[in-house]
This record gives sequence, C-alpha cells and structure tokens, in this order.
Amino acid sequence: MRPETLDALMAIVGETNISTRAADLYTYGFDASIHHRSPDVIVRPRTTAEVSDVVKLARREKIPIVARGAGTGLCGGAVPLMGGMVMDMTRMNTIKEVRVGDLYCVVEAGVVYDRLNERLAPFKFFFPTSPGSAEACTIGGMVATNASGMRAIKYGATRDYVLGLEVVLSDGSVMRVGTNTIKNSSGYQLERLFVGSEGTLGIITEVTLRLAPKPKRQCMIMAAFDSLEAAGTCVSELIATPVLPSATELMDRTCIQAVNKTVGSGLPDCEALCMIEVDGEPEVVEREMGMVTKVAERVGAISVEATSDPKTMARWTNARKSVMSALSRFGERFVSVSLADDMAVPISRIPAAVKAFQEIAVRNDVVIGTYGHAADGNLHTKMLVDPMSEESWRHAEVAVGEIYDVVLDLGGTVTGEHGVGISKAPYFQRERASALDTMVAIKKALDPDNIFNPGKMQDWEGGIIRHLRYPCPDLK
Ligand code: LAC
Ligand code: ZN
Repeated sequence: MRPETLDALMAIVGETNISTRAADLYTYGFDASIHHRSPDVIVRPRTTAEVSDVVKLARREKIPIVARGAGTGLCGGAVPLMGGMVMDMTRMNTIKEVRVGDLYCVVEAGVVYDRLNERLAPFKFFFPTSPGSAEACTIGGMVATNASGMRAIKYGATRDYVLGLEVVLSDGSVMRVGTNTIKNSSGYQLERLFVGSEGTLGIITEVTLRLAPKPKRQCMIMAAFDSLEAAGTCVSELIATPVLPSATELMDRTCIQAVNKTVGSGLPDCEALCMIEVDGEPEVVEREMGMVTKVAERVGAISVEATSDPKTMARWTNARKSVMSALSRFGERFVSVSLADDMAVPISRIPAAVKAFQEIAVRNDVVIGTYGHAADGNLHTKMLVDPMSEESWRHAEVAVGEIYDVVLDLGGTVTGEHGVGISKAPYFQRERASALDTMVAIKKALDPDNIFNPGKMQDWEGGIIRHLRYPCPDLK
C-alpha cells in the first residue's frame, strides 16, 4: 500500500488505529472459517464520519474494504480475499439508546451481543436470538449475516428485530433506512436488503433493534434416543403438536462422545439427544413440560429427564455449546472444520436429513458430527478432517456436495444462520439461481467499483477448498 494512502488513513482515524504490522495483518486474515488471506492494512474507525472518510479514500484508490466485527463467522465472510483493508468495527461499541417504552434500542455496529443483553436485563427485556458466539459477536456482524441461534424457533432471527440501520455507501454518503417505529410501510424495506449482505453493499454503522420482554421462567428436558432419526422425529412431532419450545437442540453420538470425553459433561451415553427448553409464565412452562415429555415418550425416547435447576440447565447448555471445540479435540490428527455447517430444511424433513447425513458420512469415509437447533429446521454438521491431507479434504468436499444435494432436494437452504462467505458460495449460487442476476445488478448499482468485500457470494468462482488457513495445497 502506498505510503501516501497510509498517511491519509492515519489522518482520518489516528496513528494508533491503523496497523500494517505483520502479526496484525496475519491475525486479521482469519475468521473462524477454514479460510485465510492477510489484508494490507487494518483500520479501526470510531465514528460514522471516519468510516465515511475511509470509504471515500478507498473508492478513489480502488482499495477493497472488508468490514469485520469479532471475526466469529464460520464461512469466510470477513476474510479479505483480495487483500486491501480490513475495517475493524469493534471501537464503535456504544449502546446509544435503550427505550423500553418504545420497544427499541439503538446501538453502534461493534456492540457485543452479550453486552447489549447485560444492559437490557435490568429492564426485563432482551435481544433473544442467542448465537453460539454470544460472548464475542457484534450486532453489526449479526445483521450482516442474519445470525441467530438456539432460540430462533420461538423468537426469530436477527432480521426480525432490525427496525432501522445507518449505512455508509460506496460513495461515502450516510444512508438511514427503516424507522424507530414498530410498524413501517414506508416504501422499500431497504433495511432488509442489508440483512445478510455480508459487507458487500455498504458498511453498517448503527442498528435500531426491536426489544423483546424476557420470559419469567425457563425449564429444560433432556430426551435420549437410540437413533438420530428418532430424535429428529421428536422435534418435528413437537412442533406439529403444537408446542413452541424456546430451544430444541439435537446432538448425535459423535457430538455426545466428544463433549463427554473432553468437557466431562456426563450426558447420557446414547445415539442421539434432544435438549428442549420451554419458557414463559410459570403455569405455561409447567403445562408445556408435560406436553414435551409426552411427545418424547410417544416417539420412543429411552429416557426423559426434566429440570428447572439452574445448575443442571447451565451444565446441559454448556455441553451443547462446547460441541464445536470438543469435536476438534476428539481425534488425534483431526480438526473439526466448518463445512456444510448450518443448512436448514423444512422442520418435518429433519429426520430424513439427519438419516441422509449419516449415510453420506459412511459412504465418504468422513467423521461427521451432526447437531443443531433442529426445531427451526437448522442443523450443523462438523467434519473431522486431517488438515494436512489433500485426500482428507477431497473426501470432505465430496461429502459437502452430497449434503447440499440432499438439503436442496428437501426444499432447504444451504445456510440458516451463518451466512455464505466463501465456503458456501457455489452451493448458494445453485440455491439462488433464479435470483443471481438480480443480486449481481444490486451489487453493481450500490458498489460500482466493487470495493466492498469483493469476490464473495454471487461473485465467487470455483471450489471451496481454497485460500485455506492450513499449509495444505488448495483444491481446484
Ligand atoms: C452453534 C453455532 C455453530 O450453534 O451456530 O453452536
Ligand atoms: Zn447454531
């Protein structure tokens, strides 16, 4: 990068808020995906005006900009594929307004999910989407990926809470979309366009979020099954009953063994588990616990345990949250990688999907851990790969393709909550074939010089086992 450009950036954000140190560039080349590419400079703005000035400069000099929250994304959305600038949004971390009487709050993009909920707790409100990375992930990143997590079945995903946004466009202008009102029929709902845009259309600097009242009581039920398919059936039967749990987490044998071995969670030793949480008024919770227990027994659970003890609930939740890291410590040479990591299918197709994933694992000789939120149709698979073995990656790649074939055949989507980034791009293009031209046109209209997160999503070309963080050759 030209010294004059660095000087100009320094003049905008201050000397201490840019970096070209090798260690910083290397570090900012990662998110939580399999991919890596170092940027040329890191910029850490504090205000929307600074973001705007940086964007103007980048546009003039045709420098790519990748906005980055906490870097917890699992598919390469924040990896600066074409180098250029990573814009770290974490200094923009002010909670600007909390107006519980109006049911909204206004936050800067770099506010961390858990910090927002700590601030809302005394008011008995919360932002309920519950992503797995709650301790670290930022609201801006959540909007950019339409992130969600355990409680989406009852409370929805990030998109359901975005009332308004402030966005810096590619010419540096600041656009406000949406409103501070709960209802708004005022033309194109442009705030929705930026939900799931993964930094390709503009830089989100401020978010107005709707608030939800916190439930009074929560209880959990753990049901054990002798097949993953039976656990899947439990989930779809529950939803059809109807009972609307606040969370329904599925775990297969591989995941159960991994957390028992590495975290010592003491989960029942079985083929599959369902952890079901119900919340609300105490008498409703009581009644729904009974309904959940009945459904689990009817579909053949081998054991059912209910609890309202906070310590037990925390242990179970912690076991579930540990799956990803536990899988990585499970096999000697293997790491658990995010490939085909968060597809979603119509809820009633969960049993068919999990059965197919198991067959795909056996057929391709890949260890696959299957878990996920299930009641909203969202499943995670993690593959255990020897990162130094080309053959291991090839097996995984074939399995990924087969998983997505099944998911799309079942009427699902390649990503329910993590986003597209790099590692889902070709499959996303297949899923969205009839809309791709429109997406390309929107991208061109809003970002004619292609400075915002270039080369991702609809613009990605080729296979996904490339730009790897591991020193193993890329697969073509
Ligand atoms: C989870 C992340 C992987 O549910 O979405 O743990
Ligand atoms: Zn998840």
